Amino acid sequence: MPVRIMTNFMVAAVAAVVAGGFAQGPAHADPNAGKTIALQWCASCHLVSDDQPVADSASVPSFLDISKDADWNEASLATFLANPHPKMPDMNLTTREIANIAEYIDSLAP
Ligand code: HEC
Repeated sequence: MPVRIMTNFMVAAVAAVVAGGFAQGPAHADPNAGKTIALQWCASCHLVSDDQPVADSASVPSFLDISKDADWNEASLATFLANPHPKMPDMNLTTREIANIAEYIDSLAP
């Protein structure tokens, strides 16, 4: 009996690790939701999409530029957006929203 409990525990632990890994992975982030957030929160300064009217300032990097820059990935974006550049407002994005934005930016890369 103890052996069986132990086995069940290990199966559950492995399942939890696998599920946790996938939950954080880009596969479950939603680029469309990220685009919606980007148009709502980022488009006043950044050019985030082709179908956006016009960004405020040409001196702010577009999301297409960001997507091509190898320095930016989901991890660096998450760090940056959790503690944004002083010129950017603190938007209080959730980790989920950040993952979706990162996925959206990633989807722009050619
Ligand atoms: C109020 C204007 C403003 C808003 C809103 C804004 N940004 Fe920015 N962002 C800037 C400015 C200005 C810079 C350039 C900062 C600098 O380098 O001095 C910048 C830089 C960045 C960079 C770094 C680019 C690079 O290559 O250095 C990223 C990534 C970024 N913004 C993402 C976002 C995301 C994602 C959002 C929406 C959730 C957002 N920004 C909303 C003004 C804004």
